Formats: sequence, structure tokens, C-alpha cells
Amino acid sequence: MDLAAEQQPTDWGAWHDRYDDPGSSLAARLAAIQGVIGRWLDRTAPRPVRVASACAGEGRDLLGVLEDRDDAARVEVVLLEADPALARTAAAQAQRLALPGVEVRCADAGSTRGYAGAVPADLVLLCGVFGNISDVDVHRTIRALPQLCAPDALVVWTRHRGAPDPTPTIRRWFAEQGCEEQGFVSPGEDSWAVGVHRFRGRPQPLEREHQLFTFLR
Ligand SMILES: C[S@@+](CC[C@H](N)C(=O)[O-])C[C@H]1O[C@@H](n2cnc3c(N)ncnc32)[C@H](O)[C@@H]1O
Repeated sequence: MDLAAEQQPTDWGAWHDRYDDPGSSLAARLAAIQGVIGRWLDRTAPRPVRVASACAGEGRDLLGVLEDRDDAARVEVVLLEADPALARTAAAQAQRLALPGVEVRCADAGSTRGYAGAVPADLVLLCGVFGNISDVDVHRTIRALPQLCAPDALVVWTRHRGAPDPTPTIRRWFAEQGCEEQGFVSPGEDSWAVGVHRFRGRPQPLEREHQLFTFLR
């Protein structure tokens, strides 16, 4: 076993390069997420809406949809991303697309502190998060949704379904939190999954310093 290789932190910049291969599973996952976001924007038009994205990376999911919409100005966005280079890429892309409603925060999305002023959000993106945190933290994050979600907010999350498939448990946790499942898209076992839940609970004030999760890699 190559311990040195095992301990290397993930290069999230290189990880994003896989999006550029249209045949990749990441590109397929992105298309599924963007479809959900686009339909949600259609349904909510023309009212102003707020979006919070945890561990947003380059923000390709959201920015890629807003790019093609003439109602992007009604969408207020906060992207939370810890990696300064990725945060800069996201901010540069938002600027290129002339999206003044997009704020990129180089911050820890694992702490509620980063979400101050960004929530309650009408759309909460938890994409590329649950596979990189412990199950305990996944559960804790779902239990904290009342602090992040506006009434009837949509939550979009992803998780790889490698055995043992964790998604049945995650879907149950959402249900236990009073969320209604609106969709679950996956090419099959041992592949990606995109879950979509409607928050039906009662929003709660944001705790100032509550740790939701710790990123593992
Ligand atoms: C799997 S990628 C997902 C990126 C994006 N959401 C997507 O689906 O394309 C995980 C991202 O989380 C970021 N990240 C890691 N720890 C973080 C933290 N504590 N707070 C915010 N972002 C973090 C990484 O830098 C990386 O960009």
C-alpha cells in the first residue's frame, strides 16, 4: 500500500477538469443538476430568489444555468468555497457573465458562520459534499437544514452510490427532517446520484458558530 499517495489531499482544481470531458460521469451528473436548477428557475419566475451553494468549487452547476437565462438578475447567489484558486475562478466567471448577484465567499462551508446573510435560501446546493464528509456529518447537515432553508426551499444534493449504497439512508434522513423527495436521478448502482428534496419544515434562525461538517479530503 502506498501510504504517501493515500495521504495526498485531493487536488480539487484537477478534479474539475473532468467536467471538460463531455463523456465523463461528472459531466452527466452536472447535466442532471443543471436540469433541476433550470426547472426550478422556471417555476419560481419572476420572483426574486436566493441560492446558497456549499463547497461550490467553480460553481459550474449554477453559473452554467444562469449564463443562459435572461432573468438571472433576480437570482441572488452565495457560493461558499474554501479553495482560494477555485473561489477566484468562480468569481471571475460570474464577472465574465455579468452576474452582479453572485457573491463568492472563500470560506468554510462546514460552519454556519459562512452562511450569515446568505440564508434562508430558496435553493440550497449540497453537491460534491456528502461523499467527502462522515455519515454523522451528513446527518447533522440534513438536521441543520431548517437553518439554511427558506419555506419550501429546494435542496439539491449528490452522493456516489458505491457499495454499501448510502443513498437510501440519506433519503430517509431527509424524510425524517420533513423534506419531500422531488426527484432522485442516478444511472445505477455504483454511480453518481442527484437527490432533490423540498424543505417542508419550519425555518430556524442561523446559529452563529455551529459546525455542520468537516471535509475529510
Ligand atoms: C467534490 S468538489 C464539488 C464542487 C462543486 N460543488 C461541484 O459539484 O462541482 C468539493 C469542493 O469542496 C471544496 N471544499 C472542501 N472543503 C471545504 C470547506 N470546508 N468549505 C468549503 N468548500 C470546501 C473543495 O475545494 C472542492 O472545490
